Amino acid sequence: MESKRLSFIILFYCLSITFTLFSCSCFQAEQVIGYGYVVNSVVLDSSESRLSAELSVIQKSSVYGDDIESLNLVASYETKDRLHVRITDSKHQRWEVPQYVIPREPISTHRFILESNHTGSKPQTQFLSSENSDLVFTLHGTSPARFTVSRRSTGDILFDTWPKIVFKDRYLEITSNLPAEKSNLYGLGEHTKRSFRLVTNDTYTLWNSDIPAAMIDLNLYGLHPFYMDVRSYPNTATHGVLLLNSNGMDAVYGGSYITYKVIGGIFDFYFFARPTPLEVVNQYTDLIGRPAPMPYWSFGFHQCRYGYKNVSDLESVVAGYAKANIPLEVMWIDIDYMDDYKDFTLDPINFPPKEMKNFVDKLHQNGQKYVLILDPGIGTNESYATFLRGLEHDVFLKWNGTNYLGEVWPGPVYFPDFLKPAAVHFWAREISIFRKTLPVDGLWIDMNEISNFIDPPVLSSLDDPPYKINNSGVFRPINNKTVPASAIHYGNVTEYDAHNLHGLLETRATNYALINDTGKRPFVLTRSTFVGSGKYAAHWTGDNLARWTDLQYSIPSILNFGMFGIPMIGADICGFGGDPTEELCSRWIQLGAFYPFSRGHSAIGTVRRELYLWESVMRSAKKALGLRYRLLPYFYTLMYGAHMTGVPIARPLFFSFPQDTKTYDINAQFLLGRGIMISPALKPGEVKVDAYFPKGRWFNLFDYAQTVHEDNGAYSTLDAPKDTINVHLNGGNIIPMQQEALTTELARKSGFEFLVAFGEERNASGELFLDDGESVEMAGDGNDWTLISFGSKVVEGSEIRISSKVMDGGNGFGKDLVVEKVVFLGLDFELEVKGVSINGNYSNVKVEYEKKGGFGVLEIQGLKQLIGEEFEIKVEIK
Ligand SMILES: *[C@@H]1O[C@H](CO)[C@@H](O)[C@H](O)[C@H]1NC(C)=O
Ligand SMILES: *[C@@H]1O[C@H](CO)[C@@H](O)[C@H](O)[C@H]1NC(C)=O
Ligand SMILES: *[C@@H]1O[C@H](CO)[C@@H](O)[C@H](O)[C@H]1NC(C)=O
Ligand SMILES: *[C@@H]1O[C@H](CO)[C@@H](O)[C@H](O)[C@H]1NC(C)=O
Ligand SMILES: *[C@@H]1O[C@H](CO)[C@@H](O)[C@H](O)[C@H]1NC(C)=O
Ligand SMILES: *[C@@H]1O[C@H](CO)[C@@H](O)[C@H](O)[C@H]1NC(C)=O
Ligand SMILES: *[C@@H]1O[C@H](CO)[C@@H](O)[C@H](O)[C@H]1NC(C)=O
Ligand SMILES: *[C@@H]1O[C@H](CO)[C@@H](O)[C@H](O)[C@H]1NC(C)=O
Ligand SMILES: *[C@@H]1O[C@H](CO)[C@@H](O)[C@H](O)[C@H]1NC(C)=O
Ligand SMILES: *[C@@H]1O[C@H](CO)[C@@H](O)[C@H](O)[C@H]1NC(C)=O
Repeated sequence: MESKRLSFIILFYCLSITFTLFSCSCFQAEQVIGYGYVVNSVVLDSSESRLSAELSVIQKSSVYGDDIESLNLVASYETKDRLHVRITDSKHQRWEVPQYVIPREPISTHRFILESNHTGSKPQTQFLSSENSDLVFTLHGTSPARFTVSRRSTGDILFDTWPKIVFKDRYLEITSNLPAEKSNLYGLGEHTKRSFRLVTNDTYTLWNSDIPAAMIDLNLYGLHPFYMDVRSYPNTATHGVLLLNSNGMDAVYGGSYITYKVIGGIFDFYFFARPTPLEVVNQYTDLIGRPAPMPYWSFGFHQCRYGYKNVSDLESVVAGYAKANIPLEVMWIDIDYMDDYKDFTLDPINFPPKEMKNFVDKLHQNGQKYVLILDPGIGTNESYATFLRGLEHDVFLKWNGTNYLGEVWPGPVYFPDFLKPAAVHFWAREISIFRKTLPVDGLWIDMNEISNFIDPPVLSSLDDPPYKINNSGVFRPINNKTVPASAIHYGNVTEYDAHNLHGLLETRATNYALINDTGKRPFVLTRSTFVGSGKYAAHWTGDNLARWTDLQYSIPSILNFGMFGIPMIGADICGFGGDPTEELCSRWIQLGAFYPFSRGHSAIGTVRRELYLWESVMRSAKKALGLRYRLLPYFYTLMYGAHMTGVPIARPLFFSFPQDTKTYDINAQFLLGRGIMISPALKPGEVKVDAYFPKGRWFNLFDYAQTVHEDNGAYSTLDAPKDTINVHLNGGNIIPMQQEALTTELARKSGFEFLVAFGEERNASGELFLDDGESVEMAGDGNDWTLISFGSKVVEGSEIRISSKVMDGGNGFGKDLVVEKVVFLGLDFELEVKGVSINGNYSNVKVEYEKKGGFGVLEIQGLKQLIGEEFEIKVEIK
């Protein structure tokens, strides 16, 4: 018995070893995706601003296709703190984001490498560094080869590829180690997420799709392979990483690593070293293009709905706003206006051209604007003039030797191929022809992922790549609900490669078309985006639902787009799909009034939610939009800052307080610019909110009496009455304000008020940018504009002072506007006013001083100071 049992055990043991060995080797043969590369040769150019290397594959694997034999790696400093690392096939040219899509420094060709010096010696570790750069690039001569990017000043390793690089025709994989305990990542869009900070073990799939924003954790309409990493200690320093690649990808964030799995193109990495988040966005937008200036009017409130029935319906909405005294700047219309959903046509029954023209003319007379929607699909009806002109100029996307026939709202459609110059001209011409019928002020381009109602059949292996990205969270084929990956664009570019560029290219064509036709600053709103779309357009977060979670998640989405260089961003206020409760809509307009782009929009078949329909929503709207309109000069000055330096309008708290690690996980609050903090109520039944206040003094903008003073940063419980949102101004800031009005045109004519908030340092500063709000260029040469900076200071027992400095272009704009009032907040000592002098002359303007919320508030009223003249106002105190 014993021996039998033993032999059985031995036999079992042997079998299991054999089985294990067998299954392991089998497993490996099938699963090893790549073995990596070794360094063959390295050339460090004399100025040492560039390192080039040739790599060759260690052993080939056929999983996801054969490995590419030899790669060429070039690392170079493009600016002091921008390092570019490019890895591609050294023998064959591959697809990469074309220069005409995102213009950037010309790239050294592989020819350069092949002709250069082959050392032939054993690979060694090679460094590329530059005295004036904080970034150091290291190519390790290990097998497999790795590279690291580190920060000289802190010794921190920012990017560290491990264990190997995989490079096949249609599968590229690279992993970087991250220090989980001090890395904080943000970015990689577009997704709706519960949190702004990236979540460990989430896969961020990037492939532009018509998937509603209401769906969390799925790839949505845009592709932004950029992240920001805030390293929290020992010294806080932030850097950015862009993988400039237009192919579909999965980015897996594992906390201690990030892995990119990309289905084409090349590894084209950019590392941005600047140590603050704001400077990183500045560097990033310097590469991809600065945000487009938006017209002044676009900062007013917008109203839209899918399902407006006819012109009188539109008129009644405009009248509803006027009657309720709620600002309405822009009236919108969705696809309802079209004749059979054909672009550039008007429904002859419900939206006849003559009545529509009258309607738009009336809006214009009233200082209001009109925007409508366009979809890329052109209906193939033989009696449709736009379609016939498209055929004539051969502008459509090709597939299997003919125009690709998709299906969208009009039924069968062809799609203009925006890579083709003829299509760009076609689009501009159609817009121009249409604007003669209806002089719209801006355009809204939708469905441009491209959305298709049918699943195209498989034509070639392009339609079915070996590696399947996690499209829609269920590994849906990349062709699903879009045009086929096997479609061919101008220049023999495949849709497989160019898919994610469509939104950007249509946006650029629309932007150019409007400039050409109007001669004014264009307003374009696009759903689909790519790296650099902010240079041409605004974006909204897409199809959300009227749910409290959608209200909450709108904040991370908005912060993401600011970081992606698209600062003009908003979510559909009160939700697009579904029916909101009155309370939800009320809270949503409170928050939405502070989205950079503030638009109410809803879906057909859902309850109407225009802001005047519910009593409590109306109260919230008047209060919140009232403050927004008073802050218009501030919003517009932030737009100027965004255009000049890329910094977002709506920002996460850590952009202003990067040293405060407690700000890294905040999803329910944000800043406008440097110092206005929005702390909305985001839950049903809530009448108090727990809001985080970073170190400093914070003054409630509705009521200067409610102040919060934090020495270290802490949560504070605030009252959040049903009709009110908490908006606080941080000490150290001067905010330019004007008066409330029903249109931005009227608000712009009112007198200025400056709100000066002192922190513990008893000083404050701010800026104001003025121009006509519609010149194509913002602050361009020869344009009329004025930029004014303000400084303010308190000397206890002596004086409170505010002074201005004026810079201008052309003749200066708005110099005749008048400063009527200055309010100083945060006076933290007893004082008595002795007198006021303006530019050295005593003045008898009215001065009021009172204590509110533990601080003194001093108001000077009745000023008649021209804003275009430099001034100094001194309040003498004792
Ligand atoms: C190659 O390197 C050797 C040794 O460093 C040097 O003498 C030679 O000039 C280099 N040749 C070229 C073409 O750069
Ligand atoms: C992430 O996944 C790994 C591997 O499955 C697991 O060990 C780890 O606990 C996960 N981390 C988190 C934060 O979920
Ligand atoms: C517009 O549509 C509404 C709602 O369907 C309808 O009651 C009204 O009669 C229509 N007006 C015109 C002028 O067609
Ligand atoms: C084409 O458009 C015309 C005019 O709008 C319409 O009468 C006709 O039914 C359409 N044809 C098709 C096939 O949809
Ligand atoms: C492609 O075109 C050819 C020739 O017209 C046709 O026979 C074939 O069915 C087409 N393929 C698909 C997938 O439609
Ligand atoms: C694919 O995406 C879905 C939705 O985000 C997620 O639940 C799932 O875990 C992902 N699958 C993998 C293998 O990453
Ligand atoms: C494409 O997407 C639709 C909608 O999500 C789905 O019903 C369909 O099954 C998908 N098709 C494939 C081939 O996966
Ligand atoms: C277009 O590209 C394909 C490979 O993607 C190639 O086979 C074909 O020859 C190219 N055609 C032209 C006209 O360049
Ligand atoms: C505007 O478009 C027209 C017609 O397409 C063209 O002739 C003209 O040159 C364009 N103007 C500018 C300023 O681009
Ligand atoms: C206030 O003064 C301090 C010390 O001079 C200076 O560092 C700070 O930048 C000033 N702040 C503002 C807002 O001007």
